[in-house]
Amino acid sequence: MILIIYAHPYPDKSNVNMLMLKLAANNPDVAIRSLYDMYPDFNIDVEAEQRAVEQADLLVLQHPLYWYSYPPLLKLWIDKVFTQGWAYGAGATALKNKKMLWAVTTGGEHGHFEGGDHPGFAVLSQPIQATADYCGMRWLSPVAVHGAYRADQTALLKQIRNYGERLTSWRED
Ligand SMILES: Cc1cc2nc3c(=O)[nH]c(=O)nc-3n(C[C@H](O)[C@H](O)[C@H](O)COP(=O)(O)O)c2cc1C
Repeated sequence: MILIIYAHPYPDKSNVNMLMLKLAANNPDVAIRSLYDMYPDFNIDVEAEQRAVEQADLLVLQHPLYWYSYPPLLKLWIDKVFTQGWAYGAGATALKNKKMLWAVTTGGEHGHFEGGDHPGFAVLSQPIQATADYCGMRWLSPVAVHGAYRADQTALLKQIRNYGERLTSWRED
């Protein structure tokens, strides 16, 4: 089973993430938890989140890139849900060998991140990849959907379709 932890601060205003979620929802193995819809007061139900994560073989963290990072409720979700004894430390097995996929959308184009003037995804992914590694998870190559504001949607839709394919072929990754 695939669990998408979705963190968009303004879910009703999303264009790209909304398309990605619509596509993902066609996959019968996918369950979606939209954090900003579920916890507008940031009062996360840690036990419910841990139970949901335990059901998953693939954990997807999906969000728009905000200032080269993730939106605050996703950071809080990790801080609260990845507890000692459950996610890491002595006797912790909840996340072990589960796979993690980071799926992020950006206003910037591919060249903004891979042109050398700004940190690329090998750098930006480090905190979340280190977190996954620390908890014994298996890190998959991230999905980055670039150019959210582009007028020509063709390239955007191609990247979104690629996300859908990753959600069906992830067992081979
Ligand atoms: C507060 C804020 C910070 C942002 N920071 C970045 C950024 O650092 N890099 C980037 O490429 N896009 C940045 N963006 C653009 C968003 O990533 C973009 O609007 C989003 O990925 C589009 O997805 P959506 O249609 O689902 O909202 C930022 C947007 C906002 C509102």
